[in-house]
Amino acid sequence: MSTIKACIFDLDGVIVDTAVYHYKAWKRLADQIGLNFTEHDNELLKGVSRVRSLEIILELNHVTKTAEEQTELATQKNNWYVDMINQMTPAEILPGAKEFLEACRAAGIKTALGSASKNSSTILAKINMAHLFDAIVDGNHVSKAKPDPEVFLKGAEALGVSSAECVVFEDAIAGVEAAINGGMKVVGIGEPAVLNKANIVLSGLDKMSLELLHRL
Ligand code: G6P
Ligand code: MG
Repeated sequence: MSTIKACIFDLDGVIVDTAVYHYKAWKRLADQIGLNFTEHDNELLKGVSRVRSLEIILELNHVTKTAEEQTELATQKNNWYVDMINQMTPAEILPGAKEFLEACRAAGIKTALGSASKNSSTILAKINMAHLFDAIVDGNHVSKAKPDPEVFLKGAEALGVSSAECVVFEDAIAGVEAAINGGMKVVGIGEPAVLNKANIVLSGLDKMSLELLHRL
């Protein structure tokens, strides 16, 4: 008999692919202030908070900005990003995501969101999936970024389950590490070579099933 009682899902890269919007907004900012920023650099920002993302871009360019300037730049990037996510529709849900959440709920498995994003409520409303989560924990509720397990531990707490009863779904290395640090099982969504610390790695939630969940 499986002990799994809950699934906790990262948002960006697991439920929807917002990395392209993050990239466009950071790229516009970088161009505006004369910094280099490539799609390859964008990989380093996956699962990383907004503030830390800007720090990484500045570090890559060996540029420093005051705290005040950084706040202004991050706000500008976020305004452009929000303009883009406000145009999102349910057509952008990644294959299998909605179906797997519905299957979990039908089987009595609890569901939570565990995301670093402070924009998760906007995205979930646009893709019409908010009602599929029993608990939502995002960047507005945590003070420690992944790989710290805070976001997932708060998710488990909100669902009333222990870490050992949870499976996390993550596309970022920092997120896989956060789940492990929290004592949870983790399904990597992406490349096995990159997410090699996960219990299993799948190309997407369309490859996931309740049977696989109970075999973890
Ligand atoms: C997710 C994304 C990151 C992003 C972070 C913060 O973890 O993978 O790329 O930087 O959320 O997002 P936000 O919407 O708060 O700027
Ligand atoms: Mg992610």
